[in-house]
Amino acid sequence: MPLAVPQAVDSPLTRAAIFLVVTLKPGARHAVLGMCADLSALLRGVGFRDLTGGLSCVMGFGASAWDELFGAPRPAGLHPFREIKGQHHAPATPGDLLFHIRAARLDLCFELAAHLVSRLDGVATVVDEVHGFKFFDERDLLGFVDGTENPAAQAAVQATLIGGEDPDFAGGSYVIIQKYLHDLKAWNALPVERQETIIGRKKLSDIELRPFEKASYAHNVLTNIEEGGQQLRILRDNMPFGEVGKGEFGTYFIGYARSPERIEKMLTNMFIGNPPGNYDRLLDFSTAVTGGLFFVPTASFLDDVQVPDGKA
Ligand code: HEM
Repeated sequence: MPLAVPQAVDSPLTRAAIFLVVTLKPGARHAVLGMCADLSALLRGVGFRDLTGGLSCVMGFGASAWDELFGAPRPAGLHPFREIKGQHHAPATPGDLLFHIRAARLDLCFELAAHLVSRLDGVATVVDEVHGFKFFDERDLLGFVDGTENPAAQAAVQATLIGGEDPDFAGGSYVIIQKYLHDLKAWNALPVERQETIIGRKKLSDIELRPFEKASYAHNVLTNIEEGGQQLRILRDNMPFGEVGKGEFGTYFIGYARSPERIEKMLTNMFIGNPPGNYDRLLDFSTAVTGGLFFVPTASFLDDVQVPDGKA
């Protein structure tokens, strides 16, 4: 059997991204299946207009949408996003489909998003749409470089793609998204040294603090998790977004992994604390307003989707 081709999970960080979270109306199945089968053609159609633009799109499915669209078997780790009520709140919010669209130019992302939404006209509602942008040298709006410790090349594949542990879905992935809003006034009122203690890195140079300089609640301590002596890694493609007139300054967190448990463990450490109470102080200045978990099948799976009466 030929190896399944993954979706572009490990595409590099780009200058622009659009994140669309969509819920489906009753009777959407036919149109959505048709769109799954055509996704790669839509992507080629828009992306070929500027090959230097590096357009990519990853499509993910929430647990109940998966059951509705494809039935059994269900990918082993797929379940609805689990809300966390700890020192801070990580809400679970509605979402059947996720589209993570990336390119060097926002117009490419926008054009593809418009085609996708038009294919779902009448059968779906876009419940969240975020246009992300690159902010200077890959910084978030808190002013820190975000993404430095991401795995690259083979390590990224190893961290994100399902292997023999769930053979029916090998080459697939899981993705968790959370939209965060920052209280920038309060954050910027902190001395830079305090901000660096919270993140665990130097702000200007992006150099990691040395172990003896780090607080036990530093963001990069609580999100550094291990199993059997091995670090469990994820791939993050966070993007800044916002609307200055509304005073909205945000980070769209998006993390891919071969199992959702490792991202869930990081979230538990951040929101409840490790040990409980030793939580991530980043959350005193950042409020999660959405939360979703999606399965990302391979591109080959989407290409092979059968539409019941042959036309969509
Ligand atoms: C407000 C939202 C967030 C912001 C602004 C943020 C920002 C950052 C920054 C600045 C770094 C250090 C540079 C780097 O290695 O990328 C970092 C590291 C990291 N973050 Fe976040 N992050 C956020 C949410 C999350 C969430 C929700 C998770 C996971 C559930 C997460 C997981 C990680 C991981 C795994 C690292 C690398 C840790 C290491 O091994 O050094 N982050 N984040």
